[in-house]
Amino acid sequence: MPLHPIPSVLLETERISARIRELAEAIERDYPPDEHIHLVGVLKGAFVFIADLARHMTSRVTMDFIAVSSYGKDTRTSGEVRLLKDLDTGIEGRHVIIVEDIVDTGLTLTYLTEVLRARGPKSLRTVCLLSKPSRRQVPVEVDYVGFQIDDHFVVGYGLDYAEIYRNLPYIGVLQD
Ligand code: IMP
Repeated sequence: MPLHPIPSVLLETERISARIRELAEAIERDYPPDEHIHLVGVLKGAFVFIADLARHMTSRVTMDFIAVSSYGKDTRTSGEVRLLKDLDTGIEGRHVIIVEDIVDTGLTLTYLTEVLRARGPKSLRTVCLLSKPSRRQVPVEVDYVGFQIDDHFVVGYGLDYAEIYRNLPYIGVLQD
């Protein structure tokens, strides 16, 4: 097995946990207490974030997953989004929140928002753990943002570089 360099810490575990707790509280304040919230995690990157977010929520929460990929193997998104795995259940009439790991160019979230909105949810919101506003190619509104970061390629906490580092318990930056 080749050795991989250890990324330097950008956001440590405790800071991420505290922020996710705040995001869960902010989300729950915005919905009537008896409403049911349907979280849609975007695979693969959001799997750690959605697990933590959901465990801080006390409302009735259900979860489903969708998988997309952008063409190309570069560390940068290449502009086209493909649906790799659709949701298991319909979302018509439900309060849906798309849970994303990071919003970079904004293409993935724009695509997903359009696809899901066309299915007639009762409401549709978005939450992301990280956002890199300086990289946007399309303007996209994210309802709840964990951290805004500068233009670094980050890994850990679900985020990968060539499928490695998803299990890092912090958000790190790969050195050149
Ligand atoms: P967007 O469509 O450009 O907004 O990109 C969203 C997707 O690109 C994310 O869900 C990630 O899978 C991937 N991505 C963007 N920036 C990074 C990064 O810094 N590290 C790891 N993956 C990233």
